[in-house]
Amino acid sequence: QVNFLILAGGSGTRLWPLSRKNFPKQFLKLPLPNSTQPESFFQKTLKRIALYPDDANFYIITNEKYKFYILNQIKEIWDNPDNSFDTVLEPASRNTAPAIALGVRYALEKGASLEDVFVVTPSDHLIEPKEKFVEYLERAVEIAEKGHIVTFGIKPTKPETGYGYIKANEQSFQDGYFKVERFVEKPDLETARRYLEEGNYFWNSGMFAFSGKTFIEELKTYLPEASIIFEKPMEEVFQRFSDLPDISIDYAVMEKTNKAVVLPLSLYWSDIGSWESLFEVFEKDEKGNLLLGNVLDLDVRNSFVFGDRRLIALLGVKDLVVIETEDALLITRKGESQRVREVVKELLKKG
Ligand code: GDD
Ligand code: MG
Repeated sequence: QVNFLILAGGSGTRLWPLSRKNFPKQFLKLPLPNSTQPESFFQKTLKRIALYPDDANFYIITNEKYKFYILNQIKEIWDNPDNSFDTVLEPASRNTAPAIALGVRYALEKGASLEDVFVVTPSDHLIEPKEKFVEYLERAVEIAEKGHIVTFGIKPTKPETGYGYIKANEQSFQDGYFKVERFVEKPDLETARRYLEEGNYFWNSGMFAFSGKTFIEELKTYLPEASIIFEKPMEEVFQRFSDLPDISIDYAVMEKTNKAVVLPLSLYWSDIGSWESLFEVFEKDEKGNLLLGNVLDLDVRNSFVFGDRRLIALLGVKDLVVIETEDALLITRKGESQRVREVVKELLKKG
């Protein structure tokens, strides 16, 4: 049986001011073009993986403080879900390595076996088409059964520094996947540019597939401090969870393991890492604008506006990103929207 571990505990703030620490991106429902009933990224993720045709268990790993978002958003999409979604609540945020390990342990407690395959997926991405994605999942499960840690590679288009870079071993290509020669999490800009030039790199899309046995072995080898997750009674694991190292799976295991392979995906994938990446997804009007909400535009070009609370009038401007919410307004230039992190940082400093 396959066990899906859905990561929904991050506190991403890259879509500030809409996403906040207490309301992260995965739960956001954007009234995107051609969506009559807006769904959150989290809801889209559940629907997407529920298409997996074989027997599967679903575990949502999240922080205690997001429990009600999870329960409400599941209820909104399914009165009576065909699949049961079990929720695993972390008492503290310790990033994805401890979160995934806790998910695996929880599933084992619930009867999963060490030979079972686990598929880890973030809950704040967009992937299309879904049917094709599901075929890749089935493929990944077969590969993971052989003892590999499967990553899902995306062909890079720019030297983005927010991703993991996977160097494929070209000679190793067989049955549609490569052995991973090197995994580098979030390289600096210069390095990312070099990788892009070299050519045989993929972006890590943030999803993984592995057998329980393989994962536990690698975790014990490369993050021994987290071994207690598999060695202590469940109650003690929860009690001691906040003492675990705060580290992502990418740094903790993926950069070090030699069991990784990469399955290249050829489909649309976006992690909506900035307002602009959202702008890229949808069709613009003749003037290159994407105007969501009550917007009056006079002589406006190449701009992205979002806000449905009041009339927004724009006059004689171009290349703007304008995001309006109840208590905050963001105005920035296209090409700069990655930098909302800086706003969030400043706000955190001020408390
Ligand atoms: N349960 C839980 N607990 N989930 C978490 C936690 C945590 O402590 N921290 C993060 N997550 C969730 C996030 O909500 C998201 O769905 C997923 O785990 C990945 O975390 P991010 O914080 O968004 O990671 P990232 O985007 O910086 O980097 C990862 O994804 C990139 C692709 O989008 C890495 O895997 C990169 O290598 C990859 O390129
Ligand atoms: Mg992310």
